[in-house]
Amino acid sequence: SQHQFQAPTTTDSRGPCPGLNTLANHGFLPRNGKNLTIPIVFQGALDGFNVHKELLITAAKAALFTSDLDDQFELENLSLHGNIEHDASLSREDHALGNNNVFNETIFTTLANSNPGSDFFNTTSAGQVQKARLDQSQASNPAFRNTIKEFEVRTRESSLYLQVMGDPLTGIAPKQFVNIFFREERMPLEEGWRKSNTPVTGQTDGPLFSAIARGSQWQPIAGQCPWVTLAQ
Ligand code: HEM
Ligand code: MG
Repeated sequence: SQHQFQAPTTTDSRGPCPGLNTLANHGFLPRNGKNLTIPIVFQGALDGFNVHKELLITAAKAALFTSDLDDQFELENLSLHGNIEHDASLSREDHALGNNNVFNETIFTTLANSNPGSDFFNTTSAGQVQKARLDQSQASNPAFRNTIKEFEVRTRESSLYLQVMGDPLTGIAPKQFVNIFFREERMPLEEGWRKSNTPVTGQTDGPLFSAIARGSQWQPIAGQCPWVTLAQ
């Protein structure tokens, strides 16, 4: 059917965002990952995940800077380091250490192994994972950047994977679903996942964001100020 999973071809554009890649793999965004406008992205997020634009608007606007075009971007553009893309990702290597665009199982191990003995992830495990990934980057990446901007983007991303793969009201997400989302960039429909009936908005995001933020015990690095990279 129209929204069946189809793995990308070599000419399709994919980027560092598992959410947008998944939407493209299911045809909620153009399957080639190209000619994306802000309204197209908002509609895809709503149709595919019931995520409302209020949670995406900052990232979507920043994304336009990553492209040479006036009002469109493609998914691969999003790996422009220092725009939305940041260090200490959950499933991608730091820009200074390797490929910041493609899924990396070694990096993903930290999240995959979190909340041991349980079959779900939650805000507690998500906060611990954010701290662990930050500690890894800080120890290994001399160019590590960690300002309040990166902190807020990372926390939003963690609350998003819990909400789209789990229950936006509790922040509880089955491990199986989250693992498929990251590893295969696929909606785990055969495994029983369904799009949330609860709209994913500031109302659901707020408490989850706060809990993850607190649990991550984040602190800025002295001397680093937030900036946004606007072009290559
Ligand atoms: C990263 C989810 C929409 C741009 C991420 C990550 C998640 C996520 C979980 C973290 C990946 C990691 O740490 O390895 C989602 C979901 C979305 C969505 C569920 C909507 C339904 C967007 C939009 C944009 C965007 C609208 C911009 C147009 C990015 C970028 C990254 C990213 C640039 C890479 C950040 C990094 O890890 O360095 N997203 N996202 N995302 N997202 Fe999205
Ligand atoms: Mg990154």
